[in-house]
Amino acid sequence: MPLAVDDLNLDNYWMPFTGNREFRQNPRFITGAEGVRFIDADGRKVLDGLSGLWCCGAGHNRLEIAEAVAKQARSLDYAPAFQFAHPQAFVLASKLSALMPEGLNRVFFTNSGSETVDTALKIARAYWRQRGQPGKSRLIGRAKGYHGVNFGGISVGGIAPNRKLFGATLETDHLAHTLLPENRFCRGQPERGAELADELEELVALHDASNIAAVIVEPFAGSAGVIPPPKGYLQRLRAICDRHDILLIFDEVITGLGRCGAPTGAHFFGVVPDIANFAKQLTNGVIPMGAVVVKQEIYDTFMAQGGPDYMVEFPHGYTYSGHPVACAAALAALKIFDDEKLDEQVAAKAGLFEDCIHGLANHPYVQDVRNLGFAGALTLEAYPGEPARRPYEVAMACWARGLYVRYGGDTLQFGPAFVMETTDIAEIFNIVGDALKAA
Ligand SMILES: Cc1ncc(COP(=O)(O)O)c(C=O)c1O
Repeated sequence: MPLAVDDLNLDNYWMPFTGNREFRQNPRFITGAEGVRFIDADGRKVLDGLSGLWCCGAGHNRLEIAEAVAKQARSLDYAPAFQFAHPQAFVLASKLSALMPEGLNRVFFTNSGSETVDTALKIARAYWRQRGQPGKSRLIGRAKGYHGVNFGGISVGGIAPNRKLFGATLETDHLAHTLLPENRFCRGQPERGAELADELEELVALHDASNIAAVIVEPFAGSAGVIPPPKGYLQRLRAICDRHDILLIFDEVITGLGRCGAPTGAHFFGVVPDIANFAKQLTNGVIPMGAVVVKQEIYDTFMAQGGPDYMVEFPHGYTYSGHPVACAAALAALKIFDDEKLDEQVAAKAGLFEDCIHGLANHPYVQDVRNLGFAGALTLEAYPGEPARRPYEVAMACWARGLYVRYGGDTLQFGPAFVMETTDIAEIFNIVGDALKAA
């Protein structure tokens, strides 16, 4: 039964990352979901082109997760996260460690990608202090990087509109982004650009490694519009970090847990970071949760420097770190991940996804097409001085045609559920094609 939304008071809710004034004029309500489709307030079925916000890869309303959540909420709704614990948090940490590349096996729970990022940055800085090198505090991000919205995250982040309103941030540096014009319309990872990683050597020459704590990058940049790393780029970054004793953090909030067609981006690209960040997809979107996974040596350093055993080794954590209900949701979601081999499903269908998105290369306004695994983006020709307008207009035309896609900057972004059938993937791009022709 469609929900009556016409009489809703739209005054009080300040929506995140939204043109609030536009939304009030043109509200778009999602009131239900089924599989890979949303149901809107008019009862229309709308294909979900972004797995919610990159977080519902197993499809919506999975009964196994819903039941695990209900059961947990009835038996232990909350347990204090500090000094006491509930068993499921340990079970989940083991389960997650088993999914990681070799060596990443100590897990710190958070409640979002942004908290995950700031936690990882704090671990990196504190680690060097614990090792007796307090000068190693500088953090390096990358232009076009997105690392959430907290202060650490916007400091290393490289998307100007997310930074400019907020005044001074942490002192950071940024590597150049890897979106090169010569790589336009490349399928998957581009051949050119690995040498861009060498900029890190220049930053080391400038600051000296004794002042640099960590480099943080997304294995592929997601929110800036799916920018796969040039072949060899991440390997080169890893080698430079090793050479200079700099921690490498992979922000896998989008790339982790299946999106690349592998358990993590680290697996897919064959590069193991010192710290990896996860959030989206951990509970299949059902309950907010994130996790920082670190190498054992990092954890051991904190333990060794912690003072008497009863003392807190890392004064950081959230009331809801490892929340019992979130753990139950994550365990159920990871069981689905295993049982249905979600990463392998992505790997098997990624070629079709690639063909479909590149089928739009010659459509009106399309200036670039990029893809990797089950992630892709179109860059659209801007109206003069208004880069964000065309993607908004095309996304609205898609919504009218029964497709939800994300628009951001000058891009449209796609990230279907891992379980999506090939016919639905084809439908996504048929609808986008129609919307572009009509734009
Ligand atoms: C790479 C990356 N890091 C961090 C975040 C922030 O996650 P959240 O919105 O859960 O705080 C995102 C969200 O898109 C992301 O893509």
